[in-house]
Amino acid sequence: MKKNIALIKGDGIGPEIIDEAVKVLNKICDKYHHEFSYTRVLMGGESIDATGIPLTNEALETAKASDAVLLGSVGGPKWDHMPGHLRPEKGLLSIRKGLSLFANLRPAYLYPQLKASCPLRDEIIGDGFDMLVVRELTGGLYFGVHETVEENGILVAKDSLIYTEEEIRRIAIKGFEVARKRRKHVTSVEKSNVLDSSRLWKKIVHEVSQDYPDVTLVDMLVDNCAMQLVKDPKQFDVILTENMFGDILSDEASMVTGSIGMLSSASLNETKFGLYEPSHGSAPDIAGQDKANPIATILSAAMMLRYSFDMDQEANDIEQAVEKTLTQGYRTGDIASEKTILVGCKQMGDAICANI
Ligand code: IPM
Ligand code: MG
Repeated sequence: MKKNIALIKGDGIGPEIIDEAVKVLNKICDKYHHEFSYTRVLMGGESIDATGIPLTNEALETAKASDAVLLGSVGGPKWDHMPGHLRPEKGLLSIRKGLSLFANLRPAYLYPQLKASCPLRDEIIGDGFDMLVVRELTGGLYFGVHETVEENGILVAKDSLIYTEEEIRRIAIKGFEVARKRRKHVTSVEKSNVLDSSRLWKKIVHEVSQDYPDVTLVDMLVDNCAMQLVKDPKQFDVILTENMFGDILSDEASMVTGSIGMLSSASLNETKFGLYEPSHGSAPDIAGQDKANPIATILSAAMMLRYSFDMDQEANDIEQAVEKTLTQGYRTGDIASEKTILVGCKQMGDAICANI
């Protein structure tokens, strides 16, 4: 099968982790006789440096014309002083919006091999946990009006939080659909004791749940969810939530499962098109030192094969290779523990390729 992948290496550790994911994809091509071509697209800091803005129209059009987008990470201290609309992160928000990627799937799974990296006690870990954060990605606080104005000589910052029922309905449907392919349990997370947007969220999620009698639904306030994630993470299957809460809870879920360096993600629109990226950031402190964990990006590439290209067997191959590599004891610094073999980003990529 021929596929054209838009490649956004991005900033910080972005280029190194993308290189390892491409290595793995090329190994899959060899094994299954596929032909993947890669088109480089600039976004974030690298785009600011080259063009003055975090995402150009041409870059967005190139991404749109591809079969899927694979992204490293964006941002870094170099661009921290830039105004909001010229920050690297704005490129990420623009591409999510520009490609209508409203559904962000972030699987958080505790590999038995990584039990030692889990910060929770043994009796809480038990036989591990496996959850999926389904995060709304193109609405809410991230996309409301952001402004700082002076009112009567006092600076006032405003960020508006808006959700329409349509935006809530389509992500809720996604959440229930994926739950059907898992353990059929949805926890809908909101702050309906305070926010109108959350009260609408709850109402629409309950309406949608009527069409999924086989899936159980639990409502949970976001502060309670933050607590439950460390108290009893086993209770979660699908965590369905809005943009801002999903950002925060997915970082928490990732740490609970060992390291944010393991957490992949898929951002999907109504079709099979998607953007695939690790959930972690650009880690500028270790950039260029061959220390980064490429696994989240490699697992994101596997999600790309499964969700956008219908290559289930190929995706399984990658996931099993990652698991085998962990069983063999290879670890990057973020997941290293006693009696494991400490490797760099490149060696980790090589070890995973060798297991495909
Ligand atoms: C993420 C990141 C982004 C977000 C940032 C970089 C804008 O934290 O993908 O979780 O908040 O969505
Ligand atoms: Mg985040």
